[in-house]
Amino acid sequence: MSVMTRRNWALRLSIVLNICVLLYVCAHFGSWQEEGTNWDTGGAVVPLVSNNIFGSESTQINSSVRTAQEAKATRVTGVDRYDKKNAVTSTIGSEGGTKGADATKTAGKEELEGQANSPLAQPSLSLEDILGCKDKSQEPRKAQRGDYWVLYNYVPMTMAVKCWETLTYTTHADYTFLDNLEPLLERWRAPVSIAMHAPGYDFQTTVDSIKYLRNCGSELVSQLVTFHVYFSSKHVPKVVPTSKDVVNDVYNCSLGPPWANPQNKNKMYKNEKNLLYPVNVGRNIARESAVTHYLLASDIELYPSPELPARFLEMIRRRDQPALLKANPKVFVLSIFEVDEKSSPPRNKTSLLKMLKSGSAIPFHKKVCSACHNIPKSKEWQEAPETEGLHIFHAGKRTGAFIHWEPIFIGTNSDPWYDERLSWEGKSDKMTQGYELCVLDYDFLILDNAFLVHRPGIKSHKKDQKRDMITAKTNLFIKKIIVPELKIMFGVRKGCAV
Ligand SMILES: *[C@@H]1O[C@H](CO)[C@@H](O)[C@H](O)[C@H]1NC(C)=O
Ligand SMILES: *[C@@H]1O[C@H](CO)[C@@H](O)[C@H](O)[C@H]1NC(C)=O
Repeated sequence: MSVMTRRNWALRLSIVLNICVLLYVCAHFGSWQEEGTNWDTGGAVVPLVSNNIFGSESTQINSSVRTAQEAKATRVTGVDRYDKKNAVTSTIGSEGGTKGADATKTAGKEELEGQANSPLAQPSLSLEDILGCKDKSQEPRKAQRGDYWVLYNYVPMTMAVKCWETLTYTTHADYTFLDNLEPLLERWRAPVSIAMHAPGYDFQTTVDSIKYLRNCGSELVSQLVTFHVYFSSKHVPKVVPTSKDVVNDVYNCSLGPPWANPQNKNKMYKNEKNLLYPVNVGRNIARESAVTHYLLASDIELYPSPELPARFLEMIRRRDQPALLKANPKVFVLSIFEVDEKSSPPRNKTSLLKMLKSGSAIPFHKKVCSACHNIPKSKEWQEAPETEGLHIFHAGKRTGAFIHWEPIFIGTNSDPWYDERLSWEGKSDKMTQGYELCVLDYDFLILDNAFLVHRPGIKSHKKDQKRDMITAKTNLFIKKIIVPELKIMFGVRKGCAV
């Protein structure tokens, strides 16, 4: 081989090498650019693209991403303040995750990690989209409601809540029932809307009790409980302080809970004046004022199984229960139990089933009115072991053996209301609602792993002549006045009765 040809080969080789180097550089330049795009929107601004025409836009994206993330951080911290395991936290957490996905998609680093781990999340609707609800004001306001004055949102909860984020437990009480509030909150850990009946001088004790609870007990009370107060216009208290005064006033905690003070216990204005307890006025006020789409309208002595709000919303978000797809209106029914005085209420179905076996727990009102609370497929429910999450156990109707059923359920403010002419003393106070639900062909979807437990102590039937008289009068009133009315207003359906 001549020197000439050798040089020729060297030249050709160097050209090939040059091309290789060029290709290598090009390839890497390309990928730098790509990474640059990612960093660009991720927050670390890359000098390479400083004169990029997207420069100004990317700055905008940066700031909006940051605001979204900051906002998220603030909310979650705000919630963390009281408890990490809180139901509100977990709903905010999971929802924030889906909603935040849009923001994080542009935030390079996180997306790279996301891609490395799994394909992008399945396209699923957020709860916000599924529920399409409107947020409600929590501003205090005074209004009349029939014969009653109502102080709506008299003492509002401090937590800001979106209507799709969690559930509200709505209930009614007078101050003698307020010792239930903390044990209830400890399990529920989500908003509570409570309407307090407070005529005459019961008003002052009620306000003191609210102040005591907010100043001297669990932080959950001021964070999650909204108090409404109402009284008949014939029994207006002497003084009604402003909302602000009640919220800002401090309370001398060493005085103890006002409801436990023997003087307040034995000398209620309501009893002195022989007033009936307008249970359904309270129920409707509390329900109507709930700021969330879903709510559990209950009695304050019924404590829910823990983590119910988060588990319930997760079931709604999953949309994998066939019973949810049916067109009928629906409510989500909870099974109710009682435990004896010595036992503490079970925290999950597994321990509930053990207690039922041993006899330390029984179905609610088994000894008072088993027909009122007996639930379709209750035997099967009590035989089915606990599973993960929450599902529909059975879809029932308020007919046949359950024609007088007074279920407690998770529903919405579109469901029928409670008849405000009925009192607690007269009983049957939820029967007219039951009739309406039946005529409107509601499905009663029974939840599998959630339940309510009455505060410890099993109720037995006590003879009360005065109450029996009121009950008899009420039954006549329902039969003669209310039933004909309901037939006109809602129609009739075979198998439905009050
Ligand atoms: C709080 O109440 C206790 C018990 O009645 C009393 O001894 C104490 O002086 C009160 N404290 C204040 C600051 O009023
Ligand atoms: C149910 O509650 C009991 C008692 O509180 C507890 O020991 C048990 O681990 C719980 N079971 C489940 C599945 O969470």
